[in-house]
Amino acid sequence: MGAGPDGLASVLMEKGALTNVWLPAYRAVPRHIFVPDVIWPGRAGMNRQSDRMIRADEPEAWWEAVYRDAPITTQWDDGAYTGPGRGRIPSSSNSMPTMVFSMLDALSVEPGHRVLEIGTGTGWNAALLSHRVGAENVFTVEVDASTAEAARKCLCAVGFHPVTVIGDGTEGYAKGAPYDRVIATASIGRVPRQWLAQTTPGGIIVAPWGPVYGGEAVVRLTIAGDGSASGPFLGSSAFMRLRAQRMDRRHVREYLGGRKWPAYGHRSMTSLSPEAVGDWPVMFAIGVQVPDAFPWAEMYDDGSYTLWLRDTTVTSWATADYLPDGEEFEVYQSGPRRLWDEVETAHRWWDEQGRPGFDRFGLTVAGDGERVWLDEPGNVVRVG
Ligand SMILES: C[S@@+](CC[C@H](N)C(=O)[O-])C[C@H]1O[C@@H](n2cnc3c(N)ncnc32)[C@H](O)[C@@H]1O
Repeated sequence: MGAGPDGLASVLMEKGALTNVWLPAYRAVPRHIFVPDVIWPGRAGMNRQSDRMIRADEPEAWWEAVYRDAPITTQWDDGAYTGPGRGRIPSSSNSMPTMVFSMLDALSVEPGHRVLEIGTGTGWNAALLSHRVGAENVFTVEVDASTAEAARKCLCAVGFHPVTVIGDGTEGYAKGAPYDRVIATASIGRVPRQWLAQTTPGGIIVAPWGPVYGGEAVVRLTIAGDGSASGPFLGSSAFMRLRAQRMDRRHVREYLGGRKWPAYGHRSMTSLSPEAVGDWPVMFAIGVQVPDAFPWAEMYDDGSYTLWLRDTTVTSWATADYLPDGEEFEVYQSGPRRLWDEVETAHRWWDEQGRPGFDRFGLTVAGDGERVWLDEPGNVVRVG
């Protein structure tokens, strides 16, 4: 079957992402209406983009990109980069269809529900929701004015007029509250309390959640009568961060304080390969236990690399040197935190628990903070 709405529908149904509940919405609001003429197509299963594609220059390739199960980047660097290659950070997109429909399915939306969406992007998700619950029940917030304006036009083109708000979705949208459902299509590391306050008891919040370190998954929270929320992680995701929660990553130079690596770093050896801590689920498990730190790999031509760990307060760093045939790896650590030791301890815990994937973790958000748990809410994962 050639690329087109029917072909993509079959792919999504085969994967179990698109069900009969959402098929009418899928058919009523075709993806191509919401994809702009200038795009950077993504590659399925990967967070990588191709170079810029202009519809008028490559109409067939554009169409094929629209009806592939892959995300499509529509903006870089908050609009600052528009060139032919790729910018620094993708800042808006039309999400991967599998992800769109899995999240809508997780939201358990019924006709007539009032729904708040954070991250209007191209407007496709808001259109799908409008078809299902009625546009008068959909409120969607987008931080980027030009993105919001373009989405509004596309929504009008399919005859829907949900409330489209330009603003910081961290605040939710109090004027439309209370909501039965809240869905975020930008990722978070802390659940904004406004979302909880604006959701009715028994209501559901679906959002991609991930620690600073990396690793991210969609969480499905149910609001309790006391205003707290709790629920399981459902599966891996890789969304762009909510603008307000983006992290400023400082250059390695700033950590070394003008000295040459390894400066005053303390040397040791480890048998834990840097390769063992680089997959998305283990990164998540580490990130939950090792707060405010993040990895970065400095790659070399021979297949070796240096795994850097840095904290967000620019006080501590660590390096672990990976060699393809190595059995022991050289480590340097500096600063008040021993970041490699923290990672190693977190990895050991994850290993002892049977190397859990996302589906064994859950999140509780209550007045006093957020806690990630394993298997059941009482079994809180220790931080630090
Ligand atoms: C992955 S895209 C959303 C995809 C969209 N739902 C669709 O159907 O095309 C994420 C969007 O979140 C927006 N965003 C980022 N931070 C935000 C914030 N603080 N409040 C509202 N929107 C935000 C970005 O500008 C971007 O357009």
